[in-house]
Amino acid sequence: MSNLSVNFCGVHFNNPFILPSGIITEVKDHVRAIEAGFGGVTLKSLTYERREGNPLPRMWKFDCGMINSVGLRNAGIEKGSEEIAVFLKEHSGKKVPILVSLFATKVKEFLYLVEKIVPLNPSLIELNLSCPNVEDEFGKSLGMEKGASGEIMSEVKKISGKIPVIAKLSPNVANIADIAKTCEANGADGIAAINTLGPGMVIDIVKRKPILGAKKGGMSGPAVLPVAVRCVYEIYDAVKIPILGMGGVMKVEDIIQLIMAGATLIGVGTATYYKGMKVIEELKSALLKYMEGNKVKDLKELVGVAHN
Ligand SMILES: Cc1cc2nc3c(=O)[nH]c(=O)nc-3n(C[C@H](O)[C@H](O)[C@H](O)COP(=O)(O)O)c2cc1C
Repeated sequence: MSNLSVNFCGVHFNNPFILPSGIITEVKDHVRAIEAGFGGVTLKSLTYERREGNPLPRMWKFDCGMINSVGLRNAGIEKGSEEIAVFLKEHSGKKVPILVSLFATKVKEFLYLVEKIVPLNPSLIELNLSCPNVEDEFGKSLGMEKGASGEIMSEVKKISGKIPVIAKLSPNVANIADIAKTCEANGADGIAAINTLGPGMVIDIVKRKPILGAKKGGMSGPAVLPVAVRCVYEIYDAVKIPILGMGGVMKVEDIIQLIMAGATLIGVGTATYYKGMKVIEELKSALLKYMEGNKVKDLKELVGVAHN
């Protein structure tokens, strides 16, 4: 019998499918992903201040993917950490690890967020070093540069205790492997990749102007899969820590590509907008069928095999 369970950074997941950050906005609504059968759930990135997000519309489907510019709409750390405390208390018995995602633009801010979150004891902390939708306001995102990523990671690791910390990286950089390597050297327990690709733009040809309120946005869904596969492949070559791979997964073949490139866990985000949360049960059955058909007992046997 094939086995879908996975160990990632010392945390046990019943299956490799993780809801990526931001796919659901409200903390309490993430229960939908737990009930749908995800192996793990990442909460929407939390920032120091409350953020209203970018002007509407914030999301748009194009032919082979989605473009969004949500702009990190969230309640901010004070209210957000209270909501997370309630959520973790309610759902920690369900054996579905919960990842808390944090975003900041300054090292000091990141440390404040981590200090507030550590006592709540989430399964993992994900540092979003890669949001493309807030650049205009703050200048270049911190994680676009390896020095800053390394400094954040090393400072965060001093206060994160036993909770594993992973770095979520952007594909919109010259050398993602280099940034991953720097994060690893500064104590990261794992890498998540990729955040959205871009920025891109879609123009409404009737109104003769960009569709998104913020004009530009990050791309997700099928269009970005080959970039995600390439990024995971390059990161796997550069580091020894495990990788949570995501970007464009719709079907079992996409999952296998990411695993063969080097991913241990798989994020499935935009596919839930196309197919609903039931996509997770479909992917689990398809993955089991693939494993049984190919005599794979444990997913470990496939991780990184494209490098051989
Ligand atoms: C509407 C939307 C909001 C997102 N918000 C966040 C966020 O707050 N933090 C983050 O790290 N990634 C965010 N992402 C990126 C996803 O977590 C994921 O990296 C990306 O969508 C690629 O996976 P997918 O193609 O399976 O959706 C967001 C993506 C979408 C579509």
